[in-house]
Formats: sequence, structure tokens, C-alpha cells
Amino acid sequence: MKRKRALVTGSAGFIGSTLSERLLREGYEVYGIDAFVHNYDRRLKEQNLQGLLTNPQFHFWERDLRCLDFDELLSRVDVVFHQAALPGVRTSWGAQFQEYVDHNILVTQALLEAAKHSHVQKIVCASSSSVYGGMSGPTDETVTPQPVSPYGVTKLAAEQLGQLYANVFGVPVVSLRYFTVFGPRQRPDMAFHKFIKNVLSGEPIDIYGDGEQSRDFTFIDDAVTANLLAATSPVAGEVFNIGGVSQLTVNEVIALLETHTGKTALLRRLPEQPGDPRHTFADISKARQQLGYDPQFDIEKGIWLQIQQVRSLYNL
Ligand SMILES: NC(=O)c1ccc[n+]([C@@H]2O[C@H](COP(=O)([O-])OP(=O)(O)OC[C@H]3O[C@@H](n4cnc5c(N)ncnc54)[C@H](O)[C@@H]3O)[C@@H](O)[C@H]2O)c1
Repeated sequence: MKRKRALVTGSAGFIGSTLSERLLREGYEVYGIDAFVHNYDRRLKEQNLQGLLTNPQFHFWERDLRCLDFDELLSRVDVVFHQAALPGVRTSWGAQFQEYVDHNILVTQALLEAAKHSHVQKIVCASSSSVYGGMSGPTDETVTPQPVSPYGVTKLAAEQLGQLYANVFGVPVVSLRYFTVFGPRQRPDMAFHKFIKNVLSGEPIDIYGDGEQSRDFTFIDDAVTANLLAATSPVAGEVFNIGGVSQLTVNEVIALLETHTGKTALLRRLPEQPGDPRHTFADISKARQQLGYDPQFDIEKGIWLQIQQVRSLYNL
């Protein structure tokens, strides 16, 4: 039987590289694109690609999606996993917003425009819980999004473009609202990565506000599984919350890390940051019912794996 061909944008990143590996294991031929944008050290992204580059079914292009011929690219593939974006809420204010608009909105619109004339069977776009802003309890997709960061605004615009192209042109697109993904390869600007590195090296951990802000944490393997389910389901023009099985406060996360590393964390208390939602809490009923999404990894299982990876990454 002919292999399915997948395009993964942002394939050198945290989620894109892990997803590419899984797709290869599932028998796909994978076309990966990444521009190594400056959001973190290029060497970490190159490491993410190491295993992939030895697989003959993986084809990698270092290209910037902002100036790419999507028509040609889409003619080669059956399914697209659009993971590329400029992530991070705190850096999306001020002059940098222009870059967020370019990478997150304009690139997505160009992809959708090309998809109108293509035979692509499904486009799965990475969206974010940041579209919601703050949440006071389990939040489902019927809640009106109210982003509290410019980054969240760009992710919301991208997902609404997806729904628009699905409704008007029948483009088979689905957006997944990830809730704080963690695990091996997590971006170095994300909390778990920084916390683990600092606990292991005896550096202070910056805590913004009282540490009672909470997050719904999604293990990377569950987020990757959600992508595969979305790609193979008949659903289109929809958004789905992709959360995990654990909701913890920052203070609880620190306590957990202390237990698992056997070290005491040094804390540096700083003021709350604009753009950080107070709580995130996913109601994943829609993804359960329509995609068969069933997250498996709680924080205890996942954090241990991430500690091992950060330990080996920095020789700690
Ligand atoms: N990690 C999370 O917890 C999380 C949560 C919500 C949403 N998301 C979304 O998931 C996706 C993946 O996030 P991640 O954490 O893996 O980030 P990441 O930065 O590790 O990966 C994104 C990759 O996209 C590439 N990229 C960006 N713009 C590009 C362009 N114009 N051309 C080519 N490559 C480009 C970057 O170089 C990077 O390697 C993003 O869309 C992000 O907004 C992530």
C-alpha cells in the first residue's frame, strides 16, 4: 500500500519534531520544514532533528514559510500538520508583534489559500489555550475567546481563518488548542524546562506572582496523538481543546520537582507578568467524543521523563 505523505511545518521544534518521529513510526513519509527562527538556540532544534535525519522517509528543508510556494509543496502531500509559529506570550508585546503577525497569521493564511486548490485531505493546525485568556474552571470550546496577550490574538486569528476557509471553500482544516505541553524537548523558555534546569543546577527559579496560578498540563505524547486522531477523523472546520490529565499550581509543580530531583528549589519572587493567564483548565469532552482523544500521561509519569532529558541536555 502507498505510504501516506505528511508535511510537518516547524519540524525542528518541540512538538513538530516529536510528531514527525511518531508519523514515521506510523508508516508516513514525512516532509519537514523549519527556518530555525530565533525564539531559542538553533542547536537545540538541530538536536531535535538528529534522529529524524537518519530516516530515509524523512525529507527536511530549511525554509522560511513566509516566502514559500505552498502550491508546489501541497502537491506532494496528503496531510499537513501546521506546527510552525512564533510561540510565547511574554515576548509578543511591543515591536515584536509584527513578527508574530507574519509567522502566525500571514503564513497560515497563505497555507489555507494554497489548500483551496490542492488535494490535501486534512490540515491540522496548532492553536493554543492562550486564545481563551483567563479561566475560572473547566472551559469548553463554546466559551467566547478573550486572549490576554498579543500572541493569543494571533493564534485566535489563525484558527478563525481556518474556520473561514473551511466554511467558504471547504478546506478540511481542524485546529487544536493545546494546553501547556510538557515533556522531553520542551522549549527552553517554558516553565518546566527552566524550573528543572535551575533546580538541578542550584540556580534560583523566577516565580511570577504568588505561584498559585494553575495550568492544565498536557504531555507531549498525548498532544501528538491528538494530531494523528485529528488527521484521520472526518471532522473539519472545528476547534478542539487538547488538555491533559493534570492541573497544578506553579507552587505544586515546584514541590513535585523537589521530590523527583531530591533537591531544594531556590525561589526568586517577581511581579505577575502581563499576558499570563491566571488559570487554564481544559474541558476536553469535545475531543473525547469527536476525535476519540483520551490523554494517558499524568504529570508524575511525564515529569520524570523530562527531568532525565534536561539532565542529559545540560550534563547536570
Ligand atoms: N508548547 C506548548 O505548550 C504550546 C502550547 C500552545 C500552542 N503551541 C503551539 O504549538 C506549535 C509548536 O510549538 P512548540 O512549543 O513546538 O514551539 P517551537 O518553537 O519549539 O517550534 C516551532 C517551530 O516553528 C519554526 N518556525 C516558526 N516560524 C517559521 C517559519 N516562518 N518558517 C519555518 N519555520 C518556522 C521554528 O523555527 C520552530 O522550530 C506552535 O504553533 C505553538 O504556537 C504550543
